[in-house]
Amino acid sequence: MTSPDPDPNTNNPTPFQDWTAIILAAGRGARMRSSLPKVLHLVAGLPMIRHVTNAAREAGFGRIVLVLSPDTEGIAEAAGPDIVVAIQNEPLGTGHAALAAQQAAEGSSHIVIMNGDLPLLTADTLVETATTHLETNALLSFVTADLDDPTGYGRVQRGHGRVQAIVEETEADEAARATPEVNVGIYTVRADWLWPALEALVPSPSDELYLTDIIVAAASEGEVATYELPDASEAQQVNDRNELATAEMIMRDRVRQQLMLSGVTLADPATTYIDAEVEIAEDTTILPGVHLLGRTTIGSQCQIGPNAILRDSTVGDRTEIGSSTIEGAQIGDDVSIGPYCHLRPETVIADDVHLGNYVEVKASQVGEGTRIGHFAYVGDAEIGQNVNIGAGTVTANYDGILKHRMEIGDRAFIGVNSVLIAPIVVGTDASTGAGSVVTHDVPPGAQVLGVPARIRSNEGDETGAE
Ligand code: UD1
Ligand code: CA
Repeated sequence: MTSPDPDPNTNNPTPFQDWTAIILAAGRGARMRSSLPKVLHLVAGLPMIRHVTNAAREAGFGRIVLVLSPDTEGIAEAAGPDIVVAIQNEPLGTGHAALAAQQAAEGSSHIVIMNGDLPLLTADTLVETATTHLETNALLSFVTADLDDPTGYGRVQRGHGRVQAIVEETEADEAARATPEVNVGIYTVRADWLWPALEALVPSPSDELYLTDIIVAAASEGEVATYELPDASEAQQVNDRNELATAEMIMRDRVRQQLMLSGVTLADPATTYIDAEVEIAEDTTILPGVHLLGRTTIGSQCQIGPNAILRDSTVGDRTEIGSSTIEGAQIGDDVSIGPYCHLRPETVIADDVHLGNYVEVKASQVGEGTRIGHFAYVGDAEIGQNVNIGAGTVTANYDGILKHRMEIGDRAFIGVNSVLIAPIVVGTDASTGAGSVVTHDVPPGAQVLGVPARIRSNEGDETGAE
């Protein structure tokens, strides 16, 4: 099944326009043993909660309500756009948390309640379970999975095939623990039935209001339907850091598989780490040991790696990047970089540029066709087209207090081991001799050399650069 239009800004109504998804994220998350709220821990580079809200948005629910505790900072931001926040004042259980969303969900026909610690759950599953719910006319439906190791989950208790209750791990006897069928933590309910049922909950043995107890109520009043996950890995919850690592592994596998199906070659998927939001076009090859992180986008027919790290960067088509670290950079088409380069944020590399071994570029623009072959530091510079920067060139951009910018014009030729002391402008077609220390602007077409560098006239005598 294809999911409805994920774009909240379009007016295409989805079948779930008057539905509300309530996402529970107000729990203590004590088993994580972390000062960071559980749902802010990252899975494939995105906060866990973002995976959950993305799935809810993509499924097309008209409203998304996020239940948070009063003192959690950063979760609403991490959840992304178009979210309504409801506050659960004290973490008195999942049933109590759902109740906190009542006002925010007013006017909805149906409610989908989702645990906030299910980062692998997909929009397709939400659509399937919601659709199944409508088809069965059940009072309540919930998602189940058959797990090889159901430890930690509430077990589904059935009598003559019908769901009777959910038994939490802590309260389960041996027979219940042996049940592989678990409650995943996604519930679909008719709104008019839900609120009175939540208000009628009584505290569990652990003194919490269990959301799962509304299943008992629903079973005694009408039909309860279940939707079993075809892919049980979607059920992976995250209560502790072992489960976080498992979720991470499953998510990374999924990302790699999707990329390979879309035409990207991963020479060794097991050693290739790709975050959830990374985009790669067809016929690009990713060699072993590569990390593609954050919002990185790579064009087609590129070759990346081995052992490259790219974070929040954009790469054009047919570009080759050998083992290098690239952060917050924009790189054009037909570029070759590395091995052993470091590109730092706000660097823009135009088409047909060559950066060889051990080149560091920071907050600089490098124009089309420019070559920086060996051991160089380029910081806060604007370099024109077809410039040649010799081995060992350093832009001295920092005077101990301030960073200064510099410009190097088109076709300039910077000799090996030049030190260019910013702020300066090296004119178009200008050149510097090997070992020059350039302290003043170099006029277009001029040649400077020496320490400090002086202009070399046509007759061969040397004068000051300015
Ligand atoms: C819950 C289910 C269990 C199911 C499991 C799988 C209950 C009672 N049990 O157990 O049957 O197998 O999920 O996902 O629901 N939360 C709040 N406020 C609270 C308590 C929790 O917002 O007072 C939120 C948490 O932040 C979390 C979600 O609800 O995102 C689930 O809570 P959690 O403590 O993880 O429930 P489990 O013990 O895993
Ligand atoms: Ca959980």
